[in-house]
Order: sequence, then structure tokens, then C-alpha cells
Amino acid sequence: MLPVSITLDPAFRVGPVRRRTFGSFVEHLGRCVYTGIHDPEHPTADADGFRKDVVELTRDLGVSTVRYPGGNFVSGYRWEDGIGPVEQRPRRLDLAWHSTDPNTVGVDEFVRWSRAADVEPMMAVNLGTRGVQEALDLLEYCNVKGGTRWSDLRRQNGSPEPHDIRMWCLGNEMDGPWQIGHKTAYEYGRLATETARAMRMIQPDLELVACGSSGVPMPTFGEWERIVLGETYEYVDMISAHAYYWEEDGDLGSFLASATDMDHFIESVAATADAVRAHKKVSKRIHISFDEWNVWYQHRAESKPPTGDDWPVAPVLLEDRYNVADAVVVGNLLISLLRHTDRVHAASLAQLVNVIAPIMTEPGGRAWKQTIFHPFAQASRYARGDVLRVALDVATYETAKFGDVALADAVATYDAETGEVALFAVNRSTTQPARLDVDLRSIPGLELVEASVLANPDHQWQATADDDSSVAPRANATAQVADGRLTLEVPPVSWNVVRLAVRG
Ligand code: AHR
Repeated sequence: MLPVSITLDPAFRVGPVRRRTFGSFVEHLGRCVYTGIHDPEHPTADADGFRKDVVELTRDLGVSTVRYPGGNFVSGYRWEDGIGPVEQRPRRLDLAWHSTDPNTVGVDEFVRWSRAADVEPMMAVNLGTRGVQEALDLLEYCNVKGGTRWSDLRRQNGSPEPHDIRMWCLGNEMDGPWQIGHKTAYEYGRLATETARAMRMIQPDLELVACGSSGVPMPTFGEWERIVLGETYEYVDMISAHAYYWEEDGDLGSFLASATDMDHFIESVAATADAVRAHKKVSKRIHISFDEWNVWYQHRAESKPPTGDDWPVAPVLLEDRYNVADAVVVGNLLISLLRHTDRVHAASLAQLVNVIAPIMTEPGGRAWKQTIFHPFAQASRYARGDVLRVALDVATYETAKFGDVALADAVATYDAETGEVALFAVNRSTTQPARLDVDLRSIPGLELVEASVLANPDHQWQATADDDSSVAPRANATAQVADGRLTLEVPPVSWNVVRLAVRG
């Protein structure tokens, strides 16, 4: 049994739990929108054609914000195509995914869906094929009360109240040569600055996100952030981070250590932002919007867009099926995001439905949960109050990709008002069960509320529409609290949640 010693102390506070850490992402890509959230033929469809069963699962997942409408898609998107009478909207080629978009869903429908799902919409503007004016028009359409061309058009289109969208992404992955309208860091930095400056003339208190790197492996990583923030610093609040290069490629040990790579990504971007801050001699800090992250098996056939004359509507694309090890990694990535709550002010699990997603749908049929649904739902539901970094003592193992890595990882949250504590922990060992010994003495009177574990002897088990629940978080009966110490045993390759509370 692998010994893991953890010390939990309110003095190890990192910052508040931010609800926006639990955001997600809906892109016009594959079946995320069409036959995903939107399916007018479905028995649960509402007046706009949105599936109510998917809305319920979104609520159940505990999603706080949803980024929209892309992704690579946004860099060729004309937002005006998606407003007004549906039957008059143009069908357009979507170059990013070699598909056809019927524009049945646009900004007004998406905002109505967001309200139904109780999520905050986060809007991306097209800085690929478009620029300052189109971003201003969209902002006017969404957020100006009325009395102008675009705001009156919104009212005419059935939304008398402004959409009141606060968080805006200034383009998407502009560092990537695959991006329509890809730019150098300087070109993008200038455009993002001018767009942000003009948007703030309409609404000074917007929260604006500049594009950061599409991953640590990008050749421009670091330099991109330095140049972009050199231009945009005064005008933006956050810089984005995207990461998808974590997948099990036969090296389970490295895969289970993926969160160390996310730690490195976040800390590198924060360091670069702080270097720009030092150079500019300002007190303002730039935070991180980790607005695309997930496990993604990019080399698989389902990630290849159609080609040639084939421009289908809503093709099956990026429909990864996740196993138990994937769920453990996703849980560990959430641990990483939480422990950086001082710098990560928003994050989006990419994506929400069908496309590398926790929720899957059958057109006209069932909706079901993938394995990765569970750690996200639990972290969103139980992380409350402040994030506490934990002192963790455990043996390490050698990984081919990330060097020497701890065999376990954990973070805690503590709500001083309610006396509730949540401990999130993973066992990365592929062979050894672990015994967690947690020192709770700094929070006297803590009692066990519940302990759960997500694991399976076959870590490659995947959920399906027929069975999405036989492997799910289950009670861990080994957990007990005595004399200010929590002990529990956890299996190899496992995601664990322990809830404790001070009883009054
Ligand atoms: O989420 C899938 C794609 O990954 C997004 O469209 C893009 O931003 C990223 O490269």
C-alpha cells in the first residue's frame, strides 16, 4: 500500500473557488450544436428546438459559463447570419471544419439556451476574417439597451432586454497556422488592442480575453504571450490558454501525470505576464482564461474533417469516447486549475456535447454521460469557499514525458462560513492502492460527510448510451475520521472526493 500523507490547513489559502473555473464550450463543430444541444425533432425540444434533457444534464454537470460560438469556427463566422427569421438565414461553408452551417442557431438562440441551462454566456468575436467594426456591431447588438440600429434589431428579433454578456474572447487561437486569418503575435496584438479599446468605448467594464498560445508545444509559446501582452496589457483582463495534447498513447504513466504539464503551462504564462507587468511598471495583473482544455485523441479517425466536395451539416467529428483513466486525468486537471485559482480566473472544458464532450446524444434519442462527466460534476458541486493548497508527501515515479512525478495529487476547498471541506485526490499509480492519511487538526471538529471513489479494475472501461452508470463514483467505505485524522484507502488509477464538515 502506497503511503500518502496530506496536511490540510486554512493557512494554505490560494484564493477563492471561482465558479467560472467550471465553464464549458459550445462550438459550431460536428454535432455539438446541431443534434447536440439543438434538435427540433427531439421529444424534449423547446420552442427554439433545444433539447431539454441536454439542458438538464448541463445543469447536473454544474457548468458555470459556456464559451460560444468557437473555436476555429469563429475565425470565419459572420454573426449576422445567425439572427432574424430562421428561414431567411443563409447556409454558409464553415472552412474550419469543412462543413455547412445552416445558421439555425445564432446568438439570440444561444443566449436563450444559456438562460435555460443557467449558464453565463462567454462570447468570442471573429478576429480572423473580420475586425474592429464587426466586433463592435456584435457588442452593440448584444449589450446596448436600444435606440440604435443593432440594438433595435435585437429587440425586433424578440430580445427586448440586452443579453448582457460580460466576458468576451478577442478571437481564437490566432497563434495557430491552422486558424483562418492566422497572424503573427505583433499583428494580432495590435488588432486585439484596437478591438478591445473600441469595445470598451461602448462598455468599459467588459472582461476581455486576449488569445494566448494553443499549447506549450507551439514554437511561439512564451514569446507569443510576451508580445501580445506587450501590446494589449492595458486593455485586457485575461490571456487564454488552450491545451489538448494529453492522451494515452500506450504510456499510461505519463498520461496520468498530465496535470503536471498543466501546472507548468499555467505557471509559465503567469510568469510571462508578470514579466510584462514588471517591464511596464504597472500594478495591474493579467489573469488566465484556460478556455479550452480536455483529453483529446487527435490522431483518431473521428477527428478528421470531411474533404473535397463533401460539406455536410453536423458531421460526426471529434466524438471521443472516454474511459476511466481519462476521467482520472480530467479530475487531476481540475485539481491543477483549482490550485491555481489565484491566476486562473476562468476555464472551459472543451467541449460540452458530442465533440470531445462529457455529454453525448443520439439524434432524436438518448442523452448520456461519459466517464469524464463525474469528476467535473463533483468538483463543481463540492468545491466551495477557498481553495487550499495541501502539503503532500508521497513517493515519485519516472515518466517518459514529464520526468519525476508524484504518485498522488490533491487539493482541498474550505468554506469557513459553513465549515465544509472537500478534498479532491487522485492516485496516479497504475498498480498500487494508496492509503491517504490526512492531518485535519488545523480545522477542529471535522467529521466525515461522505467519501467517493471513481475507479475500475479495467481502467479502459467506457460508458455507452446503454450503460453510463455501472462505473460511476461510489461510496468509499474505508474512509474514517478519528483524532483529527482522516484515513482512507484508494485504488490505483482513481479519482477520489472526500467531504467533511464541522458539525455545530
Ligand atoms: O475544440 C476543438 C478545437 O480545438 C477548437 O475549435 C479550436 O479552438 C481548438 O484547436
